[in-house]
Amino acid sequence: MSSTGRFWNVPLRHGQAALLAAFLAAGSLSLRAATPAETERKIDALLAKMTLQEKLGQMSQAVLRDLSDKTKEEIRQGRWGSLFGGGTPAEKAAAQRIAIRESRLGIPLIFGQDVIHGYTTTFPIPLGQSASWDPELVRQAAHIAARESSAGGIQWTFSPMMDIARDPRWGRIAEGFGEDPYVASQMAAAMVRGYQGDSLEAADSIAACAKHYVGYGATEGGRDYNTTWIPENLLRDVFLAPFQAVREAGVATYMSAFNNLNGVPASANEFTLRQVLRDEWKFDGFVVSDYTAIAELIPHGYAADAKSAAQKGIVAGVNMEMVSTTYWDNGKALIEGKQVDPKVVDQAVREILRIKFRLGLFDAKGQFSPAPAAASTADALETAKRLAAESLVLLKNQNRTLPLARSIGKVAVIGPLADSARDQLGTWAMGEPDTVRTPLAALRQALGENRVLFAPGLKNSRDNSHDGFAAAVKAARGADAVLLFLGEEASLSGEASARAYLDLPGAQEALVNEVSQAGKPVIAVVLAGRPLTFHNVAEKVNAILYAWHPGTMGGPAIANAILGDAVPSGKLPVTFPRTVGQVPIYYNHLNTGRPPADSGPEANNKFTSKYLDVSFTPEYPFGYGLSYTHFEYTSLRVSTPGMGLGGSLTISADVANTGAVEADEIVQLYTRQMTASLARPVRELKGFRRVHLKPGEKQSVEFALRGGDLAFHKGSQLVTEPGLFQVWIAPDSAAGTQGQFVVTP
Ligand code: GLC
Repeated sequence: MSSTGRFWNVPLRHGQAALLAAFLAAGSLSLRAATPAETERKIDALLAKMTLQEKLGQMSQAVLRDLSDKTKEEIRQGRWGSLFGGGTPAEKAAAQRIAIRESRLGIPLIFGQDVIHGYTTTFPIPLGQSASWDPELVRQAAHIAARESSAGGIQWTFSPMMDIARDPRWGRIAEGFGEDPYVASQMAAAMVRGYQGDSLEAADSIAACAKHYVGYGATEGGRDYNTTWIPENLLRDVFLAPFQAVREAGVATYMSAFNNLNGVPASANEFTLRQVLRDEWKFDGFVVSDYTAIAELIPHGYAADAKSAAQKGIVAGVNMEMVSTTYWDNGKALIEGKQVDPKVVDQAVREILRIKFRLGLFDAKGQFSPAPAAASTADALETAKRLAAESLVLLKNQNRTLPLARSIGKVAVIGPLADSARDQLGTWAMGEPDTVRTPLAALRQALGENRVLFAPGLKNSRDNSHDGFAAAVKAARGADAVLLFLGEEASLSGEASARAYLDLPGAQEALVNEVSQAGKPVIAVVLAGRPLTFHNVAEKVNAILYAWHPGTMGGPAIANAILGDAVPSGKLPVTFPRTVGQVPIYYNHLNTGRPPADSGPEANNKFTSKYLDVSFTPEYPFGYGLSYTHFEYTSLRVSTPGMGLGGSLTISADVANTGAVEADEIVQLYTRQMTASLARPVRELKGFRRVHLKPGEKQSVEFALRGGDLAFHKGSQLVTEPGLFQVWIAPDSAAGTQGQFVVTP
């Protein structure tokens, strides 16, 4: 039950309780949430009272750097609808009190923050969370982030980021869910449900923000903020898919992106912001621009000046301008000059106020007394450890090198990333490094200090000096196994962190060469915010565990996997190239007229789509990940050889655990339409399921498939076309047991 009265957040004394009972009896006070119609009437009443400047104020957002007298006066004047990115919880509460009690109309602020993968507790970076293929666990983590951040006075997170990314040169691949629209849709919707809970009004719910709308991940050359060219059918089938999924999950806000999309900047793109988001999807929340993205319409060459930029942003449908001030500065002149219809401004403000009402900011939530958690709770740490564990992807395990026996003598832990709390948290981390459990600390706790020989070998991941190599080699020689922590620092990942090369930075490869000469089993643990290229290293080491930037509990999760207390089950949410020269490389590609072959008679045909100097296949395919056991996929069965366009069928196969360890497996369903009026990808993920199998156990895994699941866009039309389909139930996008079915007209 949620409160609606303003006095609800103070304890009622006996007399008040009697008074309250009288009000309730008279029906003049309700405990229920306002109905949509009641909310709209409240907005109508507010809009009727608001001046134009107050409306433009609601459409303006600034960074809360400090609660200076100037900021306080601006809040009193209704200068800002939202503040974000700074201020202590107490300063937020004070600012809110000023907005509600001292401004002319008492409209509350909405406080935003980049709570991207945790607040007090840091979970793996979203790309790592995606590798878990566990939407429910991702939802739980997001709910914890909402609980922690709302206690700190935050009501709105600029998350989930769901930009489909096929280019690991782009540093922001770390923030999203990888290359596949189905996985990204599942993960993004789960995060939205976690943040927003069952009701936005709940004290521990925060508004989510679907970003960056849209197409940002297709940035040319992997260079951040660069141009994107995405034909409409690809835009709808791939890049818009997760944004539509979160619309269906009830996301409260969107953030318009920096990139130019097909010639029109995404932050002034009426096609995506009006036709798709409003007219087709009926979205009724609000859109905030990315940081100064409205003012950036000028350097884009799309607006001649700030006034034109404001006009284009408002008319296109960006409700709120982040940081730049073109709306505030030029809104009045635009309306007086009849370049912007005042009704458009009213609608923009209505949609902002609607979310503020839904959040309960005009009621109890607006009068919060911040009580930020001093430290992570036990349940938060347990969830962080589980998600870090499920995000680990085992890429190689030669002769069952892993897990190490606990009885092993000594291990050498080598590499600066073995004990770098800040780097383990990854990009956009808000948690404090001192709360982080590093792999080195976890291994020392598990094995005892004297059995863990630590030698960083390098100062950091970019270090080119070999000065630390001798100590590293000495540690390797003195141990029974070597744990080599490789990868990239957090500072090389995230926004404005494009890399033209994907190799291990610094002298890491040289360090591997030196250490591997000690002749001991070498396990590489890679911490990174993107797929890296490390083919030579992969050839030299015995096992590889990809840990992404695993967050607060990354250390215990990694130590548990190494010592066999947990079995890796993660699967790659993104293709790993052999070399950056293959980029873009992704699994759901078209076949071309001259498909290359890596076996059979065509393998030597020069005149097919391949390279002279490297294989056309990836280092590791999308969906790939090993286990400490082995799973066998057999006997794919289709419930019926064919179905109509609107029909359905089931596909099943047997999955057996043929190894000696009980473990989870993420079973994947792929289809391929062999012929259509638009060439279709050679594989498309249509479902996945986590199964748990004991040694020797076999399970029939079944997926339902409807005609609509096979639909694709032709322009704005979503169509399912008849024809022959191949189907796989598989451990990854390059393998599996295969069958076929027909869709009939
Ligand atoms: C940044 C990012 C965006 C973030 C915003 C506010 O430039 O592009 O993802 O939410 O600014 O920090």
